[in-house]
Amino acid sequence: MHADPVVLRDVRDELMAHALVRADETNYHTLNVDSVLSACPVLNSTVHEVFRFRGIGTGMVRRVLADQRLGSGYMLKKGGLVFAPNSVQHFGVTRAWDADCDIFGHRRFLQLNGGGLKGTSALRIFGGGGSYCPGRHFASAQLLVFAALVALRADIRPVPGREWANATADKSFGLGIATGFLMPDSDLEVKILSTGKNVVIIK
Ligand code: HEM
Repeated sequence: MHADPVVLRDVRDELMAHALVRADETNYHTLNVDSVLSACPVLNSTVHEVFRFRGIGTGMVRRVLADQRLGSGYMLKKGGLVFAPNSVQHFGVTRAWDADCDIFGHRRFLQLNGGGLKGTSALRIFGGGGSYCPGRHFASAQLLVFAALVALRADIRPVPGREWANATADKSFGLGIATGFLMPDSDLEVKILSTGKNVVIIK
């Protein structure tokens, strides 16, 4: 978010309008978690786009239960394993994504007519088909609230000489479940400043 002023402004404006209960006299604002999850489509779309754009590991592995022909090109043999890399699902399936899917677009998952998010089964970060990650709502909700807090409370900038435009994320995957995600190839050194807003969470 902080690397792109347009994304940061959009997310902050939305949170301020729909999820932040302001108490101007005390500067002690309250973030409404329910509203972050249900009334902030731009933030939700941005997090989905991070899942799509960075989540290009191989999260889905399936065993072939019976010989099966896939289209005219592939014969899947019983007992084999099929690895479905998200790098293909999240970019190469052109019918699922717009032509600009090779660039990051924080509004990609917004419904055109406003309100809500587009559903797409091509987003495979939590699995797909007959089996999905049962912790996906829990994980997404935590990420959304954390992202909301960071957007509202922190100004994050690269330290001089370590500009984000020069950062690469071409070859490193994380550990554990984060193997689904491309990570920066080296540490990002940043300066974190307070925006001066005191935010607490309520449920
Ligand atoms: C960003 C965080 C997470 C990601 C990207 C993620 C991703 C995945 C993926 C790709 C699978 C395999 C699904 C498939 O084979 O179709 C999976 C399975 C699973 N996940 Fe997650 N997960 C995350 C967080 C969590 C959390 C927080 C929990 C528990 C609270 C959880 C519990 C599980 C369990 C139990 C399975 C196995 C389900 C099964 O085999 O039927 N995950 N996850």
